[in-house]
Amino acid sequence: MATLIELHFIHHDGSRSCGKAKTGQSLMQAALALDIDAVAADCGGLLTCATCHVYLEDPDPARVAALPAMSADEDSMLDFAAMPRQASSRLSCQIPLTPALDGLQVRLPESQY
Ligand code: FES
Repeated sequence: MATLIELHFIHHDGSRSCGKAKTGQSLMQAALALDIDAVAADCGGLLTCATCHVYLEDPDPARVAALPAMSADEDSMLDFAAMPRQASSRLSCQIPLTPALDGLQVRLPESQY
């Protein structure tokens, strides 16, 4: 059964957007549902566009530990992200939301193109 978790998005200008999202969907799907414009997701989650790039810089080590490992395909696709890849870079379509990610903090890139 899906539960609601809280997500915190930090925009490039430092402003924040917060919202509730259902578990069971991807972070990308949640961002779109919350009208987070900085996530484009052109391929709809097929792992072929890298326009769902985000920086997962959560201060809570427990939430960081709850993130899924990066697949080889995600790793390769991140090299095509428009903004510089960083250690915290992930493709949000590859992050399924679980109850353990309640309160997740996501920094958004300046652009996806
Ligand atoms: Fe295209 Fe994530 S939505 S790679």
